[in-house]
Amino acid sequence: MYRRVSILLRKHFVSVLILCASIVIPFSSVKAADPAKGKATFQTNCASCHNVHKQLTGPALAGVEDRWPDKKLLHQWIHNSASVLASGDKYANDLFTKFNKTAMTAFPQLSNEDIDDILAYIQVEEKKGPATAGPKPGEQPEGGAEKGNDNSLLFGIITLILAVVALILMQINSNLNKLAGDKEGVPTPDPVPFYKNKAYLALIILVLFMVGGYFTINGAIGLGRQKDYMPEQPIFYSHKVHAGINQINCLYCHAGAEKSKHAMIPSENICMNCHKAIKEYSGTYELVTAEGKKIDGTAEIAKLYDYVGWDPNAGKYTKPGRPIEWTKIHNLPDHVYFNHSQHVVAGQQQCQTCHGAITEMDEVHQFADLSMGWCINCHRTTKVQFADNNYYSIFEKLHQDIKDKKIDSVTVEMVGGTECQKCHY
Ligand code: HEC
Ligand code: HEC
Ligand code: HEC
Ligand code: HEC
Ligand code: HEC
Ligand code: HEC
Repeated sequence: MYRRVSILLRKHFVSVLILCASIVIPFSSVKAADPAKGKATFQTNCASCHNVHKQLTGPALAGVEDRWPDKKLLHQWIHNSASVLASGDKYANDLFTKFNKTAMTAFPQLSNEDIDDILAYIQVEEKKGPATAGPKPGEQPEGGAEKGNDNSLLFGIITLILAVVALILMQINSNLNKLAGDKEGVPTPDPVPFYKNKAYLALIILVLFMVGGYFTINGAIGLGRQKDYMPEQPIFYSHKVHAGINQINCLYCHAGAEKSKHAMIPSENICMNCHKAIKEYSGTYELVTAEGKKIDGTAEIAKLYDYVGWDPNAGKYTKPGRPIEWTKIHNLPDHVYFNHSQHVVAGQQQCQTCHGAITEMDEVHQFADLSMGWCINCHRTTKVQFADNNYYSIFEKLHQDIKDKKIDSVTVEMVGGTECQKCHY
């Protein structure tokens, strides 16, 4: 009798495990919308016209999902608002009229997932409220959002419970074995309690070792990284004032981004092109540091004059200049090859995709973590301009596949963008 139960149990042990696993696995593979990704997409595509809390060219987007109960229609609107207007939807047409018939850009390239990510980001911002909307320089931009849908803790707890259940079942199994053996007169050794069992102990040590190792290595890899790094600069030079409010093109100062590997920091001469004439800061926008200290813009321009040796009253250079020692923010390790012009010109990538909303920052901080995973993820999902591009004429097979309609687009990965030697010297 006992033996039978024991055999039954042993037989079903595996199925019990599979059952437990089948409960756990769906949890771990649920793909929640990712507000962090949505934030990047929003900043690249929508931030020029929308803010979550404020009306800009377009309406404030807080609560938008309540205004659009039909999610499919909302997706359609973002893909192509003109098609929703043409369908005669009343809410959309009223909104359109209210906004002086300003046409919203169509975004056929965004997938439904991309849009869900954006909506998730809007919700997260909405909960934070207008006071803390948008990342203040130096603040962890995505921290709160990631916590919300990270189910690795849940996964961990369930795994732990599963392990305990497995241990108990194994213990019962050996106890039953022993009882059955005794009953039939077969000598069986006393079961060893699991905390004395060498195999279990070895297993536990191994697991602890692996978990410990994982965190140590992860920590070590992260050491050189400095997401959100925002050093104090010798002059409080605001990107928001220059590239945002005064709309100076990024390439006016970072011309290298289009022509070479490095975007380059502008020389003092470039500053003086304008600042020979602009001697004071008279903007209404108030300059404050991340710590909340008020900044006098005119005094900062005076610092520039001091560096270059310019006397604004005499209107000429009166002493030899010295270079402004800007602190470099982005630093890839030496073993990595990264080329700006390839991404900006050939790859058609926006500065903001990799550097965040620079036009909103007074002091620049590092937006992406510059990890290998960050590079590779983008290479896996981003399409290259493949057709009619001489650069890619050697990929005959891919061209043939497109002709045969086997594939409809080519990602960076497909042209070798995840091969080690492309990025590593
Ligand atoms: C060129 C400016 C512009 C851009 C870029 C833009 N929008 Fe709009 N958006 C508008 C305007 C203007 C309206 C108001 C309706 C109209 O006039 O067409 C609007 C309306 C909306 C609405 C409806 C809001 C409501 O209150 O019901 C949503 C949702 C929306 N936009 C989402 C987006 C998303 C998401 C993006 C980025 C992928 C985006 N928009 C990019 C200008 C823009
Ligand atoms: C008027 C000149 C000027 C314009 C326009 C300008 N920048 Fe800059 N940028 C600078 C200077 C000076 C620095 C170095 C000081 C600093 O980090 O704030 C810099 C630093 C940076 C950095 C950090 C570099 C590092 O050290 O790693 C990035 C990224 C950047 N700019 C991106 C942009 C983008 C994107 C735009 C356009 C939206 C832009 N800049 C427009 C002058 C300019
Ligand atoms: C595909 C991502 C990506 C895009 C797009 C991109 N950058 Fe960068 N940028 C980087 C990385 C990575 C670094 C760090 C490079 C290094 O340390 O060698 C960097 C560094 C910089 C620096 C510091 C100086 C330098 O060259 O190392 C500036 C300034 C800069 N970027 C400006 C820009 C501007 C302006 C644009 C748009 C015209 C732009 N970037 C587009 C990824 C990008
Ligand atoms: C294309 C013209 C132009 C260039 C180039 C330029 N500036 Fe400016 N700068 C401006 C304008 C416009 C203002 C705002 C003046 C106002 O609103 O009264 C300004 C304001 C400032 C201010 C006060 C506000 C702030 O950001 O703290 C400082 C400091 C400054 N510039 C430094 C620099 C430095 C350093 C460089 C070179 C890296 C530079 N500027 C390059 C046009 C320029
Ligand atoms: C926002 C998306 C994006 C990110 C982030 C990004 N890349 Fe790219 N990368 C591209 C695109 C798009 C191309 C294709 C450019 C072209 O058409 O030649 C490319 C091409 C390249 C190539 C040339 C590949 C080839 O097959 O010739 C290298 C090397 C490269 N990237 C390195 C990097 C490194 C290193 C990083 C991280 C520090 C990085 N990239 C981050 C989008 C990205
Ligand atoms: C798209 C560009 C890219 C490709 C392709 C790539 N790497 Fe990397 N790799 C990076 C970047 C960027 C870093 C720096 C990461 C950091 O500083 O955290 C890095 C770092 C590393 C490191 C140092 C450890 C670490 O994570 O910092 C090793 C080892 C490495 N890569 C191996 C490889 C191997 C092996 C391959 C091929 C399977 C490969 N890489 C392909 C961009 C790339």
